[in-house]
Amino acid sequence: MNPVIRPRRLRTTPAMRRLVAETHIHPAQLILPVFVREDIAAPVPITAMPGVVQHTVDSLRRAAAEAAAAGLGGIMLFGIPATRDAIGSAATEADGILNLATRAVVAEVGEALVVQTDLCLDEFTDHGHCGVLDAHGGVDNDATLLRYRDMALAQAEAGSQLLGLSGMMDGQVAAVREALDAAGHTGTAILAYAAKYASAFYGPFREAVDSQLQGDRRTYQQDPANRIEGMREAGLDEAEGADVLMVKPAMSYLDVLADVAATAQVPVWAYQVSGEYAMIEAAAGNGWIDRDRAIRESVTGILRAGAGAVLTYWALELARSAAAEFGGHA
Ligand code: PBG
Repeated sequence: MNPVIRPRRLRTTPAMRRLVAETHIHPAQLILPVFVREDIAAPVPITAMPGVVQHTVDSLRRAAAEAAAAGLGGIMLFGIPATRDAIGSAATEADGILNLATRAVVAEVGEALVVQTDLCLDEFTDHGHCGVLDAHGGVDNDATLLRYRDMALAQAEAGSQLLGLSGMMDGQVAAVREALDAAGHTGTAILAYAAKYASAFYGPFREAVDSQLQGDRRTYQQDPANRIEGMREAGLDEAEGADVLMVKPAMSYLDVLADVAATAQVPVWAYQVSGEYAMIEAAAGNGWIDRDRAIRESVTGILRAGAGAVLTYWALELARSAAAEFGGHA
């Protein structure tokens, strides 16, 4: 036996493997999702997400400064208000926690990071749904669009550069784009959670935002069984004017991510969600997997499948290890 073709030649040393690697994790491709909660005196740990906290505005400012220093691409803010109501009033108030925190973060980091905000009502409604309800308790698509338009204006005025539309209402990108433009916010960009699935992997996020949700989101988020529908949703959002498309969750939807990345004419990102984080942390905490390798492999896989950037709760840690590996973050 004497094979002429020996792929193993390219795997001989760490230097050779690094040289032929098709995918690298670069800090600029990483976005850190963060939670900021109203009316707390100190950060509150999230049990199901070891290492992740609900921030005070002050601790969030410090986290944002660290993210900028590490060369991250961006930060995505989620707000947890002290009081909730049926229409999510706090989402549209200029001094609502998310808008207030956005101003603080923009003041802290300036243009060093792309400051992004979750544009969805679930953190702000007392029923926990992503929109307002109709008389029968269903989520009213078109009434919700009106709330999203107001929320978009409040976020743009607070200085958010990229609005993360994560509610999966039909027509949400067009509705928000029109409202922004009419108010002169033509430069505020839209990140459409285009293909967002009704996933069990959002479980720990419920604790992270103290969600009040009873029931589920299956009438608006997509069925995990559907791949073609992911392409359809992405195509609609791009046509409606989305500047960036997102696929979410990441790990169980790499086929959808690869499909969308292969055809979209705008950047395509992926969200490694709370449950994906929790799974790896829990297994590693029990000594069942190698934590660092599992984290890197999971994010590498998402990038390899076609994501231009990844939202991940490990963004800061990964950016720091990339800096250690490659020297600096430039
Ligand atoms: C909706 C939103 C959710 C997540 C991001 N935006 C929750 C949901 O749709 O149920 C989940 C993110 C995560 O699990 O890390 N505001």
